[in-house]
Amino acid sequence: MSQSRILTFNIFRYDPQQPGDKPAMVQYQLEETPGMTVFIALNRLRAEQDPSLQFDFVCRAGICGSCAMVINGFPTLACRTLTAKYADGNITLMPLPGFELIGDLSVNTGKFMRELAERLKLWLHPDETQHDIHLIEKPMDPEEAAKLYELERCVECGVCVSACATAQMRDTFVGAVGMMKIARFELDSRDARSAEDFYHVIGTQDGVFGCMTLLGCQDNCPKDLPHMQQIAYLRRKMAGTLITISKA
Ligand code: SF4
Ligand code: FES
Repeated sequence: MSQSRILTFNIFRYDPQQPGDKPAMVQYQLEETPGMTVFIALNRLRAEQDPSLQFDFVCRAGICGSCAMVINGFPTLACRTLTAKYADGNITLMPLPGFELIGDLSVNTGKFMRELAERLKLWLHPDETQHDIHLIEKPMDPEEAAKLYELERCVECGVCVSACATAQMRDTFVGAVGMMKIARFELDSRDARSAEDFYHVIGTQDGVFGCMTLLGCQDNCPKDLPHMQQIAYLRRKMAGTLITISKA
């Protein structure tokens, strides 16, 4: 019978809540089990070796987006990453850059997403005259529903923000997650906002015109969202809107 191998984890440790604590990489070793994910390994390390280890999770199934971290240099979801992927058994874990650090591998993506939603007004803006509850709900065109569903799959993990050089250089940049969400509302026929309204939100260097098309977002998004296609679409639309505004 083949022997399980021993994995070596180098994990970033720092608790900003503890006065005097300093950032450090700490090494742990753990026996690999069949089908082990980085998430399972972290749970075992916390249960068996170090109960102070901080990391986030909710669903363990790639749905909540909480367990995103940088694994061997790439931002991704710990619960969807098999340890078997790393042939030499060495795994380095760092928190996602670009977010407030809570401690160790835990970052405050919730605060970032909440502030982004308020700044970009990421909710449906229906026509003000359509608030009659007696009106019969109109069915959505299936093709439109399928396009919306595609963008609704975003789990707000923050990977695309961490993988984006522009977002890392400029914390005012809305990032791919912000643009994906604007694309979602721009597509929605129930949203009464005009192209000009969207232009005032993302028609800047902090929005579509700041993207350098490096595509770290599309390459690393765990849900394979079509960032390149949507950002190019928004950029064309916003450039056209700018021409219309300038002529008016
Ligand atoms: S677009 Fe992809 S990478 Fe970005 S937050 Fe959503 S699921 Fe995560
Ligand atoms: S724990 Fe929910 S996405 Fe990993």
